[in-house]
Amino acid sequence: VDALVIQGPSRLAGKVQVSGSKNAALPLLFSSLLFDRKVRFENVPRLWDIETTLKLLKEMGAASQWDKQQGVVEITPENLKPEAPYELVRQMRAGILALGPLVAACGRAKVSLPGGCAIGARPVGFHLSALEKMGVTIQVDAGYIHAEVKSVLRGAEIDFPLVSVTGTENILMAATRAEGRTVLRNAAQEPEVVELGNFLIRAGAKIQGLGTDTIEIEGGALNVPEQGVRICPDRIETGTWIAIAAATRSPLTLSGTDASQLGSVFEVFRKMGVGIEVNADGSEIRVTPAQHYSPVTIETQPFPGFATDMQAQLMAALCFAEGKSVIRETIFENRFMHVAELQRLGARIEIHGNEAHVFGPCRLKGAPIMATDLRASASLVIAALAAEGESKISRIYHLDRGYQKLELKLQAVGAHVQRIAE
Ligand code: UD1
Repeated sequence: VDALVIQGPSRLAGKVQVSGSKNAALPLLFSSLLFDRKVRFENVPRLWDIETTLKLLKEMGAASQWDKQQGVVEITPENLKPEAPYELVRQMRAGILALGPLVAACGRAKVSLPGGCAIGARPVGFHLSALEKMGVTIQVDAGYIHAEVKSVLRGAEIDFPLVSVTGTENILMAATRAEGRTVLRNAAQEPEVVELGNFLIRAGAKIQGLGTDTIEIEGGALNVPEQGVRICPDRIETGTWIAIAAATRSPLTLSGTDASQLGSVFEVFRKMGVGIEVNADGSEIRVTPAQHYSPVTIETQPFPGFATDMQAQLMAALCFAEGKSVIRETIFENRFMHVAELQRLGARIEIHGNEAHVFGPCRLKGAPIMATDLRASASLVIAALAAEGESKISRIYHLDRGYQKLELKLQAVGAHVQRIAE
């Protein structure tokens, strides 16, 4: 397995091109199961989770071609075999996104339960009870979900007890091919849900209310849109670069992004004192660091609130704010594993239940540290870039799941970072 060796402190400068969004790409790729012709995807990021998704789709009878230089994926669903095995779903919890489209396309599905993961329990009960309401029998046996449409897949009124991103996406996909009307209440408003919905609308689906907490879907036939779909820029990658610029006090320009998805991230970093300027069409962001940062108090929330996927990266940046910051994690119960590693670099952070109290400013010093999950890894990279001396971050395969060529992008703006085999 690979590790990253980082020499800090880094002073970076220049322009960074933001890649396509992982969390937008995954449901879009799985939505190809709903069609009977080739679907084309552009701006697909080169990530492990995309590799895993394409393997899983192939297992299920949807072969693909991936032009990695062009970022184009073409998927051709044929003779679907509606089974998603544990070996692949355990590598990527978003494999549960196969369930909705398979049930809609094949009338049945056997999908591995995703199991636990480092950031806490990741149950899928909402996905299952919503499908039951739509006329699907669900049985869970030996680690697998067995789903079967009783007579017809039919629209239903569904009230999600908590906002679930992949839950909303799964049921949205199934509902486009169900008989009649589905209403999703307490639906996720994340931009990734909107991207998926807009693609389905271009394919002929009748969907209203995308981007609000109530989505209405009238089921019907779908046709692959000619031009395929372009994956939107990754808002979490963009936010990660803002945190890198802030922590290393480096002016950076982030291009090829979409500022309209980043409101709450801008708000928090501006409160800290980070300068953020956006160009006219929102595709480019100029980040200007400051000498002194103010502490902030935030809590993670579903969109449009501050994303849990940005929590760890913000925490690394807050180590340099002058005073006590408070981060309350309300989405996942065990999402502070980066804290112990940040402490190894000299950060002063206390955990009280679901709150992390960050006391700054700190002088961080390089040390050997260990990546535990995707966004935690990003937070360690940020801290290591800002720390004095050498850090070695082990187990960076987590990083490869969600950041395209992070070390190459870092090197291009002047960071001293090397990937080594351990
Ligand atoms: C998605 C994102 C992930 C992000 C998360 C929250 C993808 C591929 N992944 O994950 O990066 O961190 O949203 O923004 O888009 N819950 C239940 N029962 C369920 C489903 C969810 O209790 O059936 C709970 C979860 O435990 C969690 C909360 O609801 O506390 C939100 O989870 P959810 O939005 O479903 O996360 P994912 O869709 O898995």
